[in-house]
Amino acid sequence: MNTGTLFGIGVGPGDPDLITLKAANILKQVDVVFAAASTKNGYSLAEEIASTHLKDGMPLVRLGFPMTRSTEKLQTAWEENACTVVDTLRKGKDAAFVTIGDPMTYSTFGYLMRTIKEIAPDTSIEIVPGITSYQAATAAAGEILAEAEESFTVISGAMGAKKLGEVIDHTDRVVMLKVYREYKEIMDALDQLDLLKGSVLVSRCGLEGERIVRNLEDGIDSAPPYLSLLLISKK
Ligand SMILES: C[S@@+](CC[C@H](N)C(=O)[O-])C[C@H]1O[C@@H](n2cnc3c(N)ncnc32)[C@H](O)[C@@H]1O
Repeated sequence: MNTGTLFGIGVGPGDPDLITLKAANILKQVDVVFAAASTKNGYSLAEEIASTHLKDGMPLVRLGFPMTRSTEKLQTAWEENACTVVDTLRKGKDAAFVTIGDPMTYSTFGYLMRTIKEIAPDTSIEIVPGITSYQAATAAAGEILAEAEESFTVISGAMGAKKLGEVIDHTDRVVMLKVYREYKEIMDALDQLDLLKGSVLVSRCGLEGERIVRNLEDGIDSAPPYLSLLLISKK
């Protein structure tokens, strides 16, 4: 029997309408949909976004991944998850793995794809791009990301503000994802670099509780949620 194809599907950052036609069509045609879910609470935002596009009775399988920085634990989890997906494909079934935003941008899909290529190098994989969180955020905030000869740099704030210091002299704007955990340190760095005025915090873009905060000099009343990013401009 032929093995099926795995589709890595970006479902966009929250609003179910911000999914491509190609992604929506594939979600209706595959035999099973996989979604990464936290082992802590089993929740998957990608699953929630995709759910409005699935045909009735579509089998949905959650692949648990631990919220940990331990590469060993993550590797073990992804090996198990990759085996689950490969087993399904070997039964001749086509499968989609749904992920928020774009699958090639800070996504769990990268881990899954790499691990599958290690254990089953001949697996057929197709990737469907998605609208990233920061594209949706710049639109929601009405903030231009780049024009003319300008550049922008996308970084992660998961380890704090060090990266910001490294890139800020070489770019016009910075998009910082994963700002929630080290938020205090990141705000202090923005203050020291005199960037608070040119920064916008966008939380839960396109979702219930969306928040766009511009006056960061005033601070914000509470730590932002996981789905938060910063648009930082030097102008
Ligand atoms: C693991 S990354 C996923 C990035 C995603 N693949 C993309 O293309 O945007 C998670 C981070 O993306 C950002 N993010 C994702 N969805 C968001 C949303 N709806 N609103 C604000 N930030 C979001 C946050 O910075 C969050 O910490």
